[in-house]
Amino acid sequence: MTQKLQGQVALVVGGASGIGRAIVECFQAEGATVAVADFNLEACRQWAPELDSRITLHAVDVADEASVQAMVDDVLKAHQNIDVLVNCAGILDETPLLEMSTETFDRMVGINLRGVFLVSRQVAPHMVERKRGRIINIASQLALKGGVGLAHYCSAKAGVLGLTKAMAHELAPFGVLTNAIAPGPILTPMLQGLSPQWIADKEAELPLGRFGMAKEVAPTALMLASSPDGNLYVGQTLGPNSGDVM
Ligand code: NAI
Repeated sequence: MTQKLQGQVALVVGGASGIGRAIVECFQAEGATVAVADFNLEACRQWAPELDSRITLHAVDVADEASVQAMVDDVLKAHQNIDVLVNCAGILDETPLLEMSTETFDRMVGINLRGVFLVSRQVAPHMVERKRGRIINIASQLALKGGVGLAHYCSAKAGVLGLTKAMAHELAPFGVLTNAIAPGPILTPMLQGLSPQWIADKEAELPLGRFGMAKEVAPTALMLASSPDGNLYVGQTLGPNSGDVM
């Protein structure tokens, strides 16, 4: 059977862990060569050998412009092209608004929003030149519903949705399709700090009654990256979220 991403190169930023890792594994299984870019490649080195040789690792801090430029240059040197970009790097912490410092807000926005801009701006010219490409930005359903202690996170993720739509308008005429995925709560290392009680209470709120798994988000990214599956999606926000937002 034909693999959906046969012969394509995907750059998964934040691909060392959680949702990003599941996307890397899913894309590889569908024939892609995958460049994983992450702040913490150590995590990736522990599981990457399980995958075949069609994977390269690239260090990056998405909050740092020079680091992003060097990473994208490195990926293009290794693979010549980038067909699919997934912006998945992100951080999460809880701070009440009344206690939130400017530094805490700026750090969150610097990684979760500005990082998406920096990577996309660096990759998009190559896609525009080739008149093909898919960009998938991982936002969050919290961009749509807000959350206590998450003013910085919700602001950044809402920004990602706005950025996605603006990019979609500008890049679609060149054959480059940009979309967002806004997952609900997904069991990944990012949620490790949450108490069992918090998780139980949150699960009780969900129509589906349970959190998602990273491997249940990855097929949405695959759909957006594939042709003809994703051909008509432009500037959309897809919500694998257990019914948290409808
Ligand atoms: P994770 O913590 O397992 O993975 C995040 C990855 O981003 C890690 O590999 C980390 O090293 C990398 N990263 C963090 N800061 C970075 C930086 N400055 N430069 C480069 N890489 C950096 O978390 P998870 O859950 O897989 O999150 C992935 C994305 O999904 C994030 O953007 C997150 O906000 C989003 N998301 C997660 C949800 C969840 O419930 N887990 C729900 C909705 C959205």
